Amino acid sequence: MTKTSKSLVTGGAGFIGSHVARRLLAEGHEVTVLDSHIGHGIVPNVRYVKGSVTDGALVEQLVAGHDYVFHLAARLGVKTTMSAPAEMIENNLQGTMNVLQAASKYGKKVVFASSSEVYGKGKPPFAEDDDLLYGPTRKLRWSYATAKLVEEFLCLGYGRKGLPVTVVRYFNVYGPGQKEGPYGGVVPKFIRAALAGEDIPVYGRGDQTRCFTYVDDAAEATVRALRPEADQEIINIGTDEEIPIMALARRIKLVTGSASNIVTIPHETVYPYGFEEIPRRLPRTAKMKSLLGFAPRTALTEGLVRTVQWYRDNDRRAQGE
Ligand SMILES: NC(=O)c1ccc[n+]([C@@H]2O[C@H](COP(=O)([O-])OP(=O)(O)OC[C@H]3O[C@@H](n4cnc5c(N)ncnc54)[C@H](O)[C@@H]3O)[C@@H](O)[C@H]2O)c1
Repeated sequence: MTKTSKSLVTGGAGFIGSHVARRLLAEGHEVTVLDSHIGHGIVPNVRYVKGSVTDGALVEQLVAGHDYVFHLAARLGVKTTMSAPAEMIENNLQGTMNVLQAASKYGKKVVFASSSEVYGKGKPPFAEDDDLLYGPTRKLRWSYATAKLVEEFLCLGYGRKGLPVTVVRYFNVYGPGQKEGPYGGVVPKFIRAALAGEDIPVYGRGDQTRCFTYVDDAAEATVRALRPEADQEIINIGTDEEIPIMALARRIKLVTGSASNIVTIPHETVYPYGFEEIPRRLPRTAKMKSLLGFAPRTALTEGLVRTVQWYRDNDRRAQGE
């Protein structure tokens, strides 16, 4: 990688993409972001292009002018997946096809953002070559994982044709800048509730576990995926610090110093038919360590302290203080 490398980050106005853009700038890259929605979180010295990855001509023109492509643009989140699966699938597949076709034509390395969702109901800890297990198609929550899976196959297919491509599977990334969705983003949801003194809503019994990855760690691992050793590989990006959601709620209450109550809400009252909870989500991280030479550095409590501070500062800014 030279000092003058040019990187294109699709979805770079979003949560993880904006941190990847910052990381690339810090490493001396010129960075262009292609995103259909450019709102808050503008990173200075990044060039922003407002447009869609579903626009093949635009994608081709941008890919041709860059050395590397970080393809993060996607519709995601449980709510989107459950309420608009067709739009999600069309957007994500079309965008990925456009990126891979253009990158293949011009010989540009691609890092593709996949998800721990692809492991479905498999048996944790999840290793990259494990068998995968999903529920029936009528349970729409599996549509997002299935789309990501097809996109992974596309990446590997273009890899067979000589394209240098790496698939990274993120495990529950959190940190400053993450949006709170009505059905997703458990960390921002709990922090907002805790800071507002409102009930902290835990879905189900709260014994489902997750491994939360601090966004700076995820961004660094993503940029390291440019290494040739990672070409044609699929790599989990996550930590092995596993925590039940109830314990997460308690930790956030502690970190914020909040007097909020923690309340449990049955899944059926929150999600329409078609949702299935994943009881445990834990990555194997050996490949990330060996191929990317990276292990996450930010323990959960430390990451939460930084994230809470960001929400406090942001709320103050929003209130014009
Ligand atoms: N946040 C996580 O924990 C997590 C976990 C697993 C995988 N991922 C993957 O990482 C990537 C980034 O996720 P995020 O959490 O930053 O989400 P995000 O919603 O903050 O960012 C996604 C960005 O993609 C943009 N986008 C969507 N469709 C587009 C299109 N057609 N053209 C251009 N831009 C488009 C959105 O405007 C948004 O800015 C996604 O591919 C997601 O599937 C995220």
